Amino acid sequence: MADKGRFPHYMIKEIFDQPQGLRDTIQPRVSLEQGIVKLDEVRISPEELRDLRRISIVASGTSRHAGMAGQYMIQELTNIPVDVDYASEFEYRNPLIGRGELTIVITQSGETADTTAAQREARAKGSRTIAISNVVDSTIAREADGVIYTNAGPEISIASTKAFTAQMAVLFLFALYLGQVREKLSKEQVRRYIRELLDLPGKVDTVLQSAPECERLGEKYHKVQDFLFLGRAIHYPIAMDGALKLKEVSYIHAEGYPTGETKHGPNALIDESLPVVIIATCDRNDAGSVLRYEKNLANIKGFKEQSGRVIAIATQGDEAIRRLADQTIFIPEAPELLSPTNDFYSRSSGAAFAHSRDRAAAAVRVLHDSAKRAGRGSPALPGKVGNVGVGPPSSVSDLLHPIKTAEVPRRLRI
Ligand code: BG6
Repeated sequence: MADKGRFPHYMIKEIFDQPQGLRDTIQPRVSLEQGIVKLDEVRISPEELRDLRRISIVASGTSRHAGMAGQYMIQELTNIPVDVDYASEFEYRNPLIGRGELTIVITQSGETADTTAAQREARAKGSRTIAISNVVDSTIAREADGVIYTNAGPEISIASTKAFTAQMAVLFLFALYLGQVREKLSKEQVRRYIRELLDLPGKVDTVLQSAPECERLGEKYHKVQDFLFLGRAIHYPIAMDGALKLKEVSYIHAEGYPTGETKHGPNALIDESLPVVIIATCDRNDAGSVLRYEKNLANIKGFKEQSGRVIAIATQGDEAIRRLADQTIFIPEAPELLSPTNDFYSRSSGAAFAHSRDRAAAAVRVLHDSAKRAGRGSPALPGKVGNVGVGPPSSVSDLLHPIKTAEVPRRLRI
């Protein structure tokens, strides 16, 4: 029987339940000593898991955002291609799935009609299914080949909080389990990941200590009507969920976006009336993380130059971000466990990036000053300027042509 305990409402209670939910979800399924993840509930033979060609993840709302994070985890740890679908759209795209494939359906309640229908469709096409649910013996769990329960405890609040973090923990455990079965990970690697998973509840506890700061942010920004939430790589689905939470809980319009995508449109909207919440953490020991961080810093500088208000989520002790952003919420240091560093673009962009960023920033300054001189009320930049690239370039062609001159008025070309 759920009980609010010392909390004024269920949502805040469930936010504070997260460390325990994570502990109960992770601990019974790992052995640090043996360096293994045990997932007997999967009920699909190791032979079948070894032969899997593709995985589809299907879910709704917050559960789909957990699934998007799961896509990064599974692909990185197993090399199996993963697609993510909205449950409500699954049947319309006539998914080309079948034997030798796995469909993971994620639903806190286990009863969301679109998600149970998607599972039926996947099974009818011959795919094996695994359900991730928080409710024992729910419809989705009964109909799945395998089921992995999140042990987060009953979630009463509509906005999913502790179930979301527990879903991501289950997806990480499943990715490790698959990596183990398919012999992609050594025992030492699995042990390292397990250690990090076991440390997670303590780190979440530390993050929860920033609750009073978050309350102050609420007081400061409660009249704002629109927010932008940004994140790169695995932080992108987290940004998406941040925006969804704000919509569901506060009835305030919010969009989640991949940070690098802001230069292709949304950048034009950023000014004092559209605050940006950006995930900008950094693992200094990881090249990929440092590169993404440098790009985030450049983005924040650009947003500030066009009068944006920035709330940053940064790694403890990050003075550079603290000085730049309007508000910073610090979280404990943590290694980037899934950090793509092997892509061509990331490796080639480092040197060219600094040069193109300076040129792009100069172009923006010229436009900004000119808009001000023209006496426009808001210093926000005209739409096309979003494409100039205040932030880092997004493709090799952006590197070669960092400023798309055709889109900058002739008199402002530099
Ligand atoms: C929506 C809720 O109706 O259902 C979301 O508003 C939730 O908060 C979504 O994430 C999916 O729910 P479930 O139970 O399938 O995870």
